[in-house]
Amino acid sequence: MIEGVEKVACVGSGLVGQGWAALYTLKGYDVILQDLAEETLTNAVKRTHHHIDVLVEAGLGVEPDIAKKRITTTTSLEEALDGADFVTESVYESLEVKCPLYAQMDEIAPKNVVFASSTSGYMMSEINRDMKKHPERAIVAHPWNPVHLVPLVELSPSPETSKEAIDITYKLMEDIGRVTVVLKKEASGFIANRISVALWREALDLVNRGIASVEDVDKAIMAGPGIRWAMMGPYLTYHLGGGKGGIKYLMDHIGVKKQEWLKDMAQWTEFPESVKAKAVDGVNDMVGDMSLEELEAWRDQNLID
Ligand SMILES: NC(=O)c1ccc[n+]([C@@H]2O[C@H](COP(=O)([O-])OP(=O)(O)OC[C@H]3O[C@@H](n4cnc5c(N)ncnc54)[C@H](O)[C@@H]3O)[C@@H](O)[C@H]2O)c1
Repeated sequence: MIEGVEKVACVGSGLVGQGWAALYTLKGYDVILQDLAEETLTNAVKRTHHHIDVLVEAGLGVEPDIAKKRITTTTSLEEALDGADFVTESVYESLEVKCPLYAQMDEIAPKNVVFASSTSGYMMSEINRDMKKHPERAIVAHPWNPVHLVPLVELSPSPETSKEAIDITYKLMEDIGRVTVVLKKEASGFIANRISVALWREALDLVNRGIASVEDVDKAIMAGPGIRWAMMGPYLTYHLGGGKGGIKYLMDHIGVKKQEWLKDMAQWTEFPESVKAKAVDGVNDMVGDMSLEELEAWRDQNLID
């Protein structure tokens, strides 16, 4: 555990909040899950227990029963923040929900308490706009789904975020076993979602133009670049692709041809409506009778393996 943090308030207990709660409690932090309704919280605790068991079975944690006892719940924001040293916010992806919440938390919590948002794409300078007292304590800490199994967390400070808030968040993320990256400048979508969306645009276009099926696009990524991406990103991949001349050779010679492909690739700045039906039909064909639960269990087991 890191100095100064014993209790974490997980505000918003949906899919993402549950993953965070499992990671924190297994590392010894007390967690208070906060949400709008008791029923939501009951389900969240059940799901968090499940994630704890999955992590322990995978050898990624010990003493699940003790971890489970570290979870409490409340529907009251005041109660959630009472005694919390750190806040992980995972409420709906909407500024109408997040902005007033940050303003309210800013009124309630002592100034040293850091607020970290799980937002998938908003910049902290958008979320913190109504924080009147201490906007410097707010930062984005964007996880990847499923949060308890995928290690990446992207930290995106606003221009106002203090060095202390960045340091505490970084240390906490590393302590709960995350691989943490820090943006040098704000950008919506951060690093990995921007790259994912560029890939998604091309995946949709390949199917839309009848070049490949949904199943083959997925297969091509999974059995090809996906395997390498699990251990190295595009820069190191291309460095090794350049042979003895490395990345420079690749960019000067082999990469020249890639420039021609750019001209033939999707240039959309909005996803056309026409791509939706083909994507949905293709995915339905691909998954067949498998239920969402079966697919999630299959994915999680593969991630662990
Ligand atoms: N689902 C993903 O793959 C994913 C991945 C990374 C980040 N995120 C981000 O994490 C956040 C949460 O996403 P999710 O998938 O868990 O959503 P979700 O809909 O599963 O959960 C959101 C929860 O927040 C609660 N909530 C809404 N307003 C609230 C409020 N004012 N106070 C307390 N609780 C409130 C809801 O009742 C709900 O339980 C979003 O910002 C999302 O962009 C999602």
